[in-house]
Amino acid sequence: MAMNQTGEVTAPAELGNLTQFEYLALGSPLNLADGHARQELTPGQIRIVDELPSLWAESVKRPVEEVEAEARRAYLELLGQRRFPDVPERLLSCYSSSVAMEIFARSLARTTDSIMLVHPTFDNIPDILRGVGLRLEPVEEPVLHGAGIPDDRLRSVGCVFVTTPNNPTGRVLSRSALRRLAARCAEHDVVLTLDTSFRGFDTDAHYDHYEVLEASGCRWVVIEDTGKLWPTLELKIGWLASSENVGLPLAEVYSDILLGVSPLVLSMVRRFAEEAAGGGLADLHRFIATNRATLREHLEGVPDVRFPYPSSRASVELIDLGQRTALDVWTALRRHNVYALPCEKFHWANPVEGSRRLRLALSRPASSVLTAAKALRSVLLAG
Ligand SMILES: Cc1ncc(COP(=O)(O)O)c(C=O)c1O
Repeated sequence: MAMNQTGEVTAPAELGNLTQFEYLALGSPLNLADGHARQELTPGQIRIVDELPSLWAESVKRPVEEVEAEARRAYLELLGQRRFPDVPERLLSCYSSSVAMEIFARSLARTTDSIMLVHPTFDNIPDILRGVGLRLEPVEEPVLHGAGIPDDRLRSVGCVFVTTPNNPTGRVLSRSALRRLAARCAEHDVVLTLDTSFRGFDTDAHYDHYEVLEASGCRWVVIEDTGKLWPTLELKIGWLASSENVGLPLAEVYSDILLGVSPLVLSMVRRFAEEAAGGGLADLHRFIATNRATLREHLEGVPDVRFPYPSSRASVELIDLGQRTALDVWTALRRHNVYALPCEKFHWANPVEGSRRLRLALSRPASSVLTAAKALRSVLLAG
């Protein structure tokens, strides 16, 4: 943390990426920076944590393929997937979605040098893709949700990558928009990849994506992520699903990186998914909606401030700051020990677009969101 000689907190000298901003927040009880789930466990979830010793014993005894298959089924069915690949090579379990992303990126780079990526989105996605030498072409959300990608642009890339629901905007690719995009990717033989890490939060994203993708005949990849939904102390699974015709060496690259994930984590994910299906997911949706309402209510009437994605149900909220810069607000909030994210880095192809926007995480205890909302109101009214 940068401080001047009088001990005042100042904005950090240029930070490289969003995760570096997130590191700064990790020790604060008012960390509303990263999108990982950090709310309190519910009573139903506490019971699962209490079961961990028996889940451990069970995980030791049972064949790992069985434990893995049950976890996949419980998680994917919770999110409206009636069908999904049942061959292990087509549904690879990874430690996290970033690991799944790295495996996908390395595989893709063996077959093409260019990819079209939704803009804005969380910056570790463009960073990983650039890291394997891919050339990135931005595609704006209104194009994806509206008229569609022009033919010449689609033909110029080997893959289209969409985060849905998107982080930070919360926008969901509807079933019909996905059907149109998948048909066009099939027509041009372009791989279609989805990062659905935030889909648990929005029932509009609980339709059978794999069915739509399969029906189109396109070559597809989906990255699923249990890590944003439940406060499981970074114990999570990223799944890398793909079509039979994908034509990418995903299983081979996977084997370059890992042998498999922990059956204990898989068993825990299964239990969290079962608990969610029994009512926990609806409770979580209400919890996030209440935190969102708290934030919006406290910022009501603050001049020149608005919420650009009013219908977002993602566990993060974007705020337009008017004439204020996100870094100034970030610095002022830091004096109250509150951490948020300035949005330049989400706009990976044009950072200035995010320079007057702030993102706040809502997957936090209600009391933290309330304190942060009050602090943000006073900071915004002051400047
Ligand atoms: C859309 C999206 N995908 C993937 C990730 C990476 O998740 P993890 O850090 O758990 O690998 C993030 C992180 O916030 C994200 O927002």
